[in-house]
Amino acid sequence: MSSSGEAELLHTFKGIPFTTRSSPELLKSLDTFDAREDDVLLVSYPKSGTHWLAGVITKLYNTQVTITSPIEFGDISQLEELNKLSSKRIIPTHLDYNMLPPNFKNKKCKMIYISRNPKDTAVSMFHYYRDNPNLPTVDTWTAFFDLFLKGNVVCGSWFDHFLSWEEHEDEKNILFLFYEDMKKDLPKVVKDITLFLSLNISDNDIQDICQKSSFSEMKNDTEKENSDPSHTVCALTSNRKLIFRKGAVGDWKNYFTPKQNIRFQEIFNEKMKLSKM
Ligand code: A3P
Repeated sequence: MSSSGEAELLHTFKGIPFTTRSSPELLKSLDTFDAREDDVLLVSYPKSGTHWLAGVITKLYNTQVTITSPIEFGDISQLEELNKLSSKRIIPTHLDYNMLPPNFKNKKCKMIYISRNPKDTAVSMFHYYRDNPNLPTVDTWTAFFDLFLKGNVVCGSWFDHFLSWEEHEDEKNILFLFYEDMKKDLPKVVKDITLFLSLNISDNDIQDICQKSSFSEMKNDTEKENSDPSHTVCALTSNRKLIFRKGAVGDWKNYFTPKQNIRFQEIFNEKMKLSKM
């Protein structure tokens, strides 16, 4: 990572690196945030398909809902802004389970956690680091690979994030989804989401929603002149166009050397030994 002036792009809170787009005051105040029983949280480690999931979910409601900016994004006024919203709130977040405002847990708000093969997540994040001025520069894939494995990237260790949420997988108010399942059979995943959110949507409408949520459609929508490029559900960027890169499963094979793959696998096996994944 090149250093000059870039150290200021990140800061650490409770051991986790955040960009300066998440102010320490805001992070400190999250514990007191007042959740509403009908809030829905969209939770992910960065680059796991958050925008895709958000794109699907907004199309499921025919009542007024607002996809807010991420709860950890901005300064202390963010919490007030969220409080002011009168419509139902769909709130994205990259927070680790332990940092989530306790009120969401106490009120048993519905939460959807989307996860992705960490190898593809790492490659996607590598590109994001390279293209996104809000993140430190990385010079090479090799350098980024090391940072990722050490959890020395924004939002911390993929393993810690995943495990913190997986521990709560069996709670009725939490739905676990995988990017790869969405790629394989999106209508099935959308059906599962509708059941979880108690929404009554016909199979025809689900097909239609899936078509409108394809990678090419979403990328095209973003490129249209009237789309708002700053509307992202990720606290790390101000440019929605950076989100839609390749949208593929298995791109990691184009980046990992055999040696890196073995190292990754060893660490994965060690860290995930108690995981059901
Ligand atoms: P790649 O960089 O591998 O292309 P997030 O929204 O959490 O930042 O995740 C971004 C990743 O999701 C990017 O992966 C992006 O291309 C992919 N993505 C976004 N919309 C998608 C869609 N409709 N279908 C498949 N992948 C999508």
